[in-house]
Amino acid sequence: MLPPEPPRLSLGHFPTPLRALDARALSALELPSHLKLWIKHDDLSGFALSGNKVRKLEFLLADAKQRGASAVVTCGGVQSNHCRATAFACAQLGLACTLLLRDDPGPGGAVTHNQGNHFLDQFCGAETRVFSPRDYRALDEHFAEAIRDLEQRGHRAYAIPTGGSNGLGVWGYVRAFDELMQQCEAQDFQPDMLVCASGSGGTQAGLSLAAHVRAPTVKVHAYAVCDSVSYFDRKAREDIGACMAACGHEGRIDPEAVALSTDDDFIGPGYAQGYPELYQTMLLAGRSCGLLLDPVYSGKAFHGMVTQLRAGAFPGVEHVVFMHTGGGFGTLVHGAAMLEALGSHQNNAQNGSL
Ligand SMILES: Cc1ncc(COP(=O)(O)O)c(C=O)c1O
Repeated sequence: MLPPEPPRLSLGHFPTPLRALDARALSALELPSHLKLWIKHDDLSGFALSGNKVRKLEFLLADAKQRGASAVVTCGGVQSNHCRATAFACAQLGLACTLLLRDDPGPGGAVTHNQGNHFLDQFCGAETRVFSPRDYRALDEHFAEAIRDLEQRGHRAYAIPTGGSNGLGVWGYVRAFDELMQQCEAQDFQPDMLVCASGSGGTQAGLSLAAHVRAPTVKVHAYAVCDSVSYFDRKAREDIGACMAACGHEGRIDPEAVALSTDDDFIGPGYAQGYPELYQTMLLAGRSCGLLLDPVYSGKAFHGMVTQLRAGAFPGVEHVVFMHTGGGFGTLVHGAAMLEALGSHQNNAQNGSL
């Protein structure tokens, strides 16, 4: 049994839709004919304030408010969806927001400063501090400095870690699991496998914890978009342990007993870096399923899933739910690189190979 759910603010539009892909879409994706694939549309949890981070922010910002915070500091890549969602949530709640951003190179080394999510951060009034990847390593110092600066301006600051992944953020995807299982029941099926992207590990941790407690036959399979399998195993267990400890339930659920399944084979050249096969799967998903995936998170997870399902990697799995965690604004900064892939995609299609 899980401890009682902590306090939560309502920020997103829930339940998000659960959509079955039809036979035409499944055949376009070249999936084996026995498979059924559903999309859980957490990309539609809102518009500017959208994606998987909304579920975590509902708990984190409730805690911030309860502690009397008037400002929030958080961090991520320069195209962080988490930072953008936090910035809009703060604007909605009347909280000041400071974002500590790592200036990751975009596709092909392109600068993505002031574009996509970073533009939107500033649009809604967040203060953004952008660091080179090297300087970003001193993240703890940047947090301390940002908090000091806010305090000097009379604020009480609340710090949120990368991706909102900690013991409290985990609750977002425990709740999402319950929401999804109710929808599956209403549509008369039990999923065999849930698929998500793992960036800071909180989505995977929440889903895996909930599956462990509520429905252990459901496999949660995550595709890493950075770091390694062992990193995510450790991080997810740490968050699950913190979730139990914060509720005084330490020891009731042993994080080591929670099954974790992570794959790091589809990261490509690195975090936030695309590659042609990824872009082509994303284009195929766009054209055949009407899905807007992003090349940093949801696209890599979808590409990994489709590639492995085609290869029969999950024997016995029939009903699969793909957690679409959002990220569409980040897709826009990959436009030029994707158009190049689109050219080769069209040429391949004309040559009959797609
Ligand atoms: C669009 C999107 N999908 C998936 C993830 C991964 O979620 P998590 O950070 O909980 O692992 C993130 C953020 O990291 C994201 O922005």
